[in-house]
Amino acid sequence: MPLPLSLGPKGRPRMVKIEKAKAETPQVRTLFFMDEACGRAEPGQFVMVWIPGVDEVPMSLSYIGSFEPDGLSAVTVRRVGEASEALHRLEVGGLLGVRGPLGRGFKPVEGRVMLVGGGLGIAPMKTLLPKLRRLNCEATVVMGATTASEMALAGEVERLLSGWGRLLKATDDGTLGFKGTAAQLAAEILKEDSGYSQLYACGPEPMLVKILELSFKYGIQAQLSLERYIKCGMGICGSCTVGPYRICVDGPVFTGQTLKDLPEFGKTRRDPSGRSIPV
Ligand SMILES: Cc1cc2nc3c(=O)[nH]c(=O)nc-3n(C[C@H](O)[C@H](O)[C@H](O)COP(=O)(O)OP(=O)(O)OC[C@H]3O[C@@H](n4cnc5c(N)ncnc54)[C@H](O)[C@@H]3O)c2cc1C
Ligand code: FES
Repeated sequence: MPLPLSLGPKGRPRMVKIEKAKAETPQVRTLFFMDEACGRAEPGQFVMVWIPGVDEVPMSLSYIGSFEPDGLSAVTVRRVGEASEALHRLEVGGLLGVRGPLGRGFKPVEGRVMLVGGGLGIAPMKTLLPKLRRLNCEATVVMGATTASEMALAGEVERLLSGWGRLLKATDDGTLGFKGTAAQLAAEILKEDSGYSQLYACGPEPMLVKILELSFKYGIQAQLSLERYIKCGMGICGSCTVGPYRICVDGPVFTGQTLKDLPEFGKTRRDPSGRSIPV
């Protein structure tokens, strides 16, 4: 039965063709596609990606068509389970469904800014860089990965920062850049110079907790992107709640001021059955 048209881009998956695919690391792959609505997305928004016969999963937009010369948008996928494995198997010319863009993204702010991305957390933040550049910001990007070979999208971030920003890298095992986490490197940088107007961060929740602590320690505003289990993506089912907020419509990006009063932040989330479990 056809879905009602009134559901719009949030409710109806649109079938898009994979135009291009790029292996970023052994475990990470970017899939490029043409889609008008995704091409107009805000940095930090996500889409529900439907792999027919497998699952529908949330993915951040790592490329937004309107910023790209070829007009293609993309998702960058880490292989972790059934759906992401199926996305890694898709060939150029294959089809997938996209619903969205969904949620609220990052707000560009003038001044000296720091972006901290843990793992694939860099994917939604890199789409913010062209907007920050237009505002004449001075950007420091801190990227963290477990090991050098899993540092995805660093070349692309370097290209986007050319002439106006710097990229600093951290690996847990010390195979590239600073030895430690992205949050530890951010703490080292801020210890030397805390004159930033905004901290942006996306990555594992324990990392976000540390970035929020740094934002209060140094009196810097923060915007943090959270992950929760997303089912409907439209604010109906309640599976993605954090306090009174739903990640899929009120987030995934929240201000530090909003998160600081939420007892669930950094502690608990819901599993697919709705049970509260540790993050
Ligand atoms: C707003 C948002 C943006 C995301 N952006 C990206 C991205 O850009 N790239 C990327 O690789 N991953 C991203 N993820 C995570 C991605 O959705 C899951 O890794 C993916 O769904 C895994 O599915 P799977 O079947 O391969 O693995 P599974 O074996 O099903 O799960 C592996 C892990 O992914 C989590 N997960 C599974 N399904 C969902 C779901 N519907 N909602 C939230 N978490 C889920 C599970 O809790 C588990 O921790 C994002 C998640 C959210 C909430
Ligand atoms: S996923 Fe259903 S309310 Fe957010």
